Amino acid sequence: MIKPIEVAHQMLKEVIERKDIVVDATMGNGYDTLFLSQLSDHVYAFDIQKEALKATEEKLALAHQKATLILDGHEHLLRYIEKPIKAAIFNLGYLPNTDKSIITRPETTLAALSVLTARLCVGGRIALMIYYGHKGGRDEKNALVKWAQNLPQEYWHSFSYVPLNQIHTPPLLILLEKRK
Ligand SMILES: C[S@@+](CC[C@H](N)C(=O)[O-])C[C@H]1O[C@@H](n2cnc3c(N)ncnc32)[C@H](O)[C@@H]1O
Repeated sequence: MIKPIEVAHQMLKEVIERKDIVVDATMGNGYDTLFLSQLSDHVYAFDIQKEALKATEEKLALAHQKATLILDGHEHLLRYIEKPIKAAIFNLGYLPNTDKSIITRPETTLAALSVLTARLCVGGRIALMIYYGHKGGRDEKNALVKWAQNLPQEYWHSFSYVPLNQIHTPPLLILLEKRK
């Protein structure tokens, strides 16, 4: 079976073309930024931690790839991006092996989604990888599930993919596609 992150990448890959602008809303160690940079015209990647920018810069350099790395919260994405956005990924939670108190939060994640959904192209997709085993994680998961369940069906496809029998707390994937 393929893992939630592999499903997320596959679903984004299906719609991204070489001319497209895409967003990595949570850069972290840069795995998603690198993945997106190999498919699109340009990636805008966000994180609030300098360590994330450094790790991502190194990863991109090794692969001879480029992206715009932004030290700011994803909720401010419209300050940096003027063009329509074709796809975006959020990998929510905390940066592995660092300060577990620096986590994504429901208010800012929902604020980012509010502006992103307005700027997304028709046919564009958003993947939300929701890690929620840490303190505060469940609040974010619950808020996002509620939000995604209430998106109007006429305008949005809204799906989830989650392992059902794993111990611990495996990530929940929510996938969205703008219909019109
Ligand atoms: C689970 S990690 C991301 C993993 C990453 N996608 C990767 O490939 O390694 C979550 C990241 O979100 C960042 N973050 C927290 N709040 C944020 C915000 N408001 N805007 C952007 N990034 C944020 C954290 O600093 C952390 O690096």
